[in-house]
Amino acid sequence: MLPILFLFLSLLLLPSSHAADFCVADLTGHLTPSGYECKEESSVTTDDFVFSGLGVPGNTSNIIKAAVTPAFVAQFPGVNGLGISAARLDLAPRGVIPLHTHPAASEFLVVTQGTICAGFISTANNVYYKTLKTGDSMLFPQGLLHFQVNGDGTKAMAIVSFSSPSPGLQITAFALFANNLPSALVETVTFLDDAEVKKLKKLLGGTG
Ligand SMILES: *[C@@H]1O[C@H](CO)[C@@H](O)[C@H](O)[C@H]1NC(C)=O
Repeated sequence: MLPILFLFLSLLLLPSSHAADFCVADLTGHLTPSGYECKEESSVTTDDFVFSGLGVPGNTSNIIKAAVTPAFVAQFPGVNGLGISAARLDLAPRGVIPLHTHPAASEFLVVTQGTICAGFISTANNVYYKTLKTGDSMLFPQGLLHFQVNGDGTKAMAIVSFSSPSPGLQITAFALFANNLPSALVETVTFLDDAEVKKLKKLLGGTG
């Protein structure tokens, strides 16, 4: 009887006997593969779980005529450790989110305005694409190359969610033509000709 009573009392008196409900990111630390360290619970507020950035249209005055507004862990520390995040896509007429991949997350897209032609390419090189109307959703499985295009003359918008607080983003054209890998090597590994590689490097800010 006495040992059971003792156990009961010690459980009651243990200061942090409850499981951690969340792990709001301490952004002063480093991002590791398992996320950021947790901010002290005593300094967590409601605002750590609220993000207003997705209500603000992104600036589409750029080469792709499109903008991605992320609500990843770096912008929204509350998603740390929860396996989720989101972003807003704004596409001006003829805007393009160029072929890209999120190495760490699957993506769920909902078109909230206009129409968007979206698709992905599987590792078997099968292509899955469709012109989505407002209200349509589409999935992009983790790691696969995908794109979103606004072929219309009116603005389009989508909200996307991800299965990771840090989905990662690599845009194929930037990976190939916005870096300093020597053009001769880019040509060798892509089978593109010298003129095309130099043109794209100039356009996207690559050197070499
Ligand atoms: C959008 O970006 C362009 C190009 O960087 C800039 O000139 C313009 O001022 C920006 N517009 C707004 C509303 O921030």
